Amino acid sequence: MAGHQLCLIIDFGSQVTQLIARRLRELNVYSEIHPFNALDGDRLRALAPRAVILSGGPASVPEPGSPRPPAEVFQLGVPVLGICYGQQAMVDMLGGRVEGGHAAEFGHAWLEPAGRHGDDPIFSGLFEAGREAVWMSHGDRVTAMPDGFEVFGTSPGAPFAMIGDARRHFYAVMFHPEVHHTPNGRRLLENFTRLAGFSGDWTMGAYRDEAIAAIRAQVGNGRVICGLSGGVDSAVTAVLLHEAIGDRLTCVFVDHGLLRQNEAQEVVGLFRDHYNIPLIHADESARFLAALDGVTEPEAKRKTIGRLFVEVFEEQAGTIGGAAFLAQGTLYPDVIESVSASGGPSVTIKSHHNVGGLPERMNMALVEPLRALFKDEVRALGRELGLPEHFVGRHPFPGPGLAIRCPGEVTPEKLAILRAADAVFIDQIRRHGLYDDIWQAFVALLPVKSVGVMGDGRSYDYACALRAVTSVDGMTADVYPFTHDFLRETANRIVGEVRGINRVTWDITSKPPGTIEWE
Ligand code: XMP
Repeated sequence: MAGHQLCLIIDFGSQVTQLIARRLRELNVYSEIHPFNALDGDRLRALAPRAVILSGGPASVPEPGSPRPPAEVFQLGVPVLGICYGQQAMVDMLGGRVEGGHAAEFGHAWLEPAGRHGDDPIFSGLFEAGREAVWMSHGDRVTAMPDGFEVFGTSPGAPFAMIGDARRHFYAVMFHPEVHHTPNGRRLLENFTRLAGFSGDWTMGAYRDEAIAAIRAQVGNGRVICGLSGGVDSAVTAVLLHEAIGDRLTCVFVDHGLLRQNEAQEVVGLFRDHYNIPLIHADESARFLAALDGVTEPEAKRKTIGRLFVEVFEEQAGTIGGAAFLAQGTLYPDVIESVSASGGPSVTIKSHHNVGGLPERMNMALVEPLRALFKDEVRALGRELGLPEHFVGRHPFPGPGLAIRCPGEVTPEKLAILRAADAVFIDQIRRHGLYDDIWQAFVALLPVKSVGVMGDGRSYDYACALRAVTSVDGMTADVYPFTHDFLRETANRIVGEVRGINRVTWDITSKPPGTIEWE
């Protein structure tokens, strides 16, 4: 985003590089991630960062050909912080030494203060309890520092765990300040941004006005179509666009019949009735269910839904006529160019469905006002725009909807059972005050029937699985640790209240090796 003081993050392929950017954004500092191999001196100068952070990464600095940032990073006259691999690359480039072959240090470690640590602004608020808990993940380590550097902190496995040249404002740490397991890491990043002179100009209040101005500049007097899914990203995109261009926005809500309980009414009620946004509600459930009839293979389901979705969207867009722009809720994690550790393309585990390909087919330009934002920033922006809290804080919901939570054949009967069970589960989670601690929760209806006894009779009904995970970005996930009481109560309620289910199981698989959705 032009116009904001930039903290540039140079990525060497660490799994947690995005967390650096997110921690900085939480500090109201605008940050962008650029892969090391997409930068040279000219590009660096054009970006004009106020500070640079070198990320961690899987490579090994002593290996010939291992990646380095452009040398100009150290000539910009701005503070530089190297993290893990970034520390070692910095040390190597500035004349120190890095060696492999030491015992790897992985996980928790204690960082003890060393040298004249108290004098430097980087230490404000640190080491107050004597030492700091930090999270390490490295095999190589620094064995000699560059000229001008001194040791600020040591750990049992890393005598140069934290080093720096306070005169040039170059700092380098072996541990990861961006992860939660380094509790005071945020403080370290805050100190770094303070000494770099960031004014904290990145707020969603300011962004709202900038985004509105940018939309107006891009769209001029044109008309825009925006697909609503019921999710928070498309909702925020729509409300922002409506503020920018009023009734020249038309929203299209494709109801594929695979939505959750009351979802269609909620979306239509909010956008058409509350915000007065022109909205086409295309109820195409019969068409989608007919196309899904007999389709059981997960990828075939996804492709069928994706293809029909584009078809319906195109038809509806055609009825409006003359829209030159298509709005999409693309987020920053979707556009970050990532450095692949293996260098090769990754395997497709699931084809995600979106309206990709449509803009070219329909000759429309894209408007993507959330392209610079992380999910938590989209939520903050939604609050700025006055979207109701229960809408803004919603769990993510996949484009193919309940079809991928219904392994095997998708039928109206199964969907009705699934919807009812899911509503009970979510109600339980809300009643127990757990909704916001969970990244995503839902019920999957299993394609198995089992025998039960209800009252005095025999039942032969479906089994379902409860799924609830914690996650940062959906890429990895942990099972949410419900109590037995909660699980027992939920199972009783589902079997008691939902006709068609007589057995409840709990899915306790993390991702990897599982995925969050069942298909
Ligand atoms: P998996 O199942 O791959 O899901 O672990 C990771 C996250 O992505 C969501 N998901 C989708 N979102 N279109 C979407 O918009 C899709 O086709 C799709 N498939 C999965 C899933 O709900 C989870 O949050």
